[in-house]
Amino acid sequence: PPATDPRPPSGGVRAPARAAIGAPHLRTDRWWLAPAATAAGLLAFVVYSTWRAFADAHYYAAPYVSPFYSPCLAERCEPMRAGPNWEIFGSWWGLSPAIIILVFPLGFRLTCYYYRKAYYRGFWASPPACAVAEPHRRYTGETRFPLVLQNLHRYFFYAAIPVAGILTYDTVLAFRDEHYAWGHMGLGTLVFLVNIVLIWAYTLSCHSCRHIVGGKLKHFSRHPVRYRMWQWAGRLNARHMQLAWASLLSVALADLYVYLVASGVFDDPRFF
Ligand code: FES
Repeated sequence: PPATDPRPPSGGVRAPARAAIGAPHLRTDRWWLAPAATAAGLLAFVVYSTWRAFADAHYYAAPYVSPFYSPCLAERCEPMRAGPNWEIFGSWWGLSPAIIILVFPLGFRLTCYYYRKAYYRGFWASPPACAVAEPHRRYTGETRFPLVLQNLHRYFFYAAIPVAGILTYDTVLAFRDEHYAWGHMGLGTLVFLVNIVLIWAYTLSCHSCRHIVGGKLKHFSRHPVRYRMWQWAGRLNARHMQLAWASLLSVALADLYVYLVASGVFDDPRFF
């Protein structure tokens, strides 16, 4: 470009090779609604989960263990007879035990392909919507630190599987009563059941999961089992965004339920 050209030398819609259109964008619909709603929803979850993760209290109401605190890996965990409780972090660990375990589901969701789209649009405006230029002068994608760490997603997927397994175990234990006798079913049991179904559906709908089960194959015909699994993962994958939101909501509700029962706001209504 000529030396007087104010446009940056590369990148973005104002790059020299792009059409020089003066208007910021040509969309006339309410394109800002989706990123604004996304930002509000994610922000609400971040505020709630941060409060609960650091609260370090009211995360166990027999037989329910909050999914934010399971497995509980610190010596300072509330004494729980339900749910996995391994004292790997001794008395030197002074923070909430939720911090130890939340790293994995948080990393899984932060690096998720759908959530990237959501928060890139909602918070960074990069870009805010289709055909709406981002305000940043340069675009480096996910090639630089810290965004290059998004490539760790598949490893967070591997970590998410045992975490989902442990939440499944917690859900099975929710079929006991407060005296640890089997055959109980309360409203909390239902809340946990819905949550674990959504957690698994979200986890197995992951793009990395789909690639792991069906990728790098030359002939599906020679791998009928993987082909079938890839088809299942693909069907779930088509609903990944909905499952991301539904499971985010359900995990927060499961935690809220435990909090309300543990703090004595109400007793768990029991069906049998
Ligand atoms: Fe969303 Fe993997 S792409 S969880």
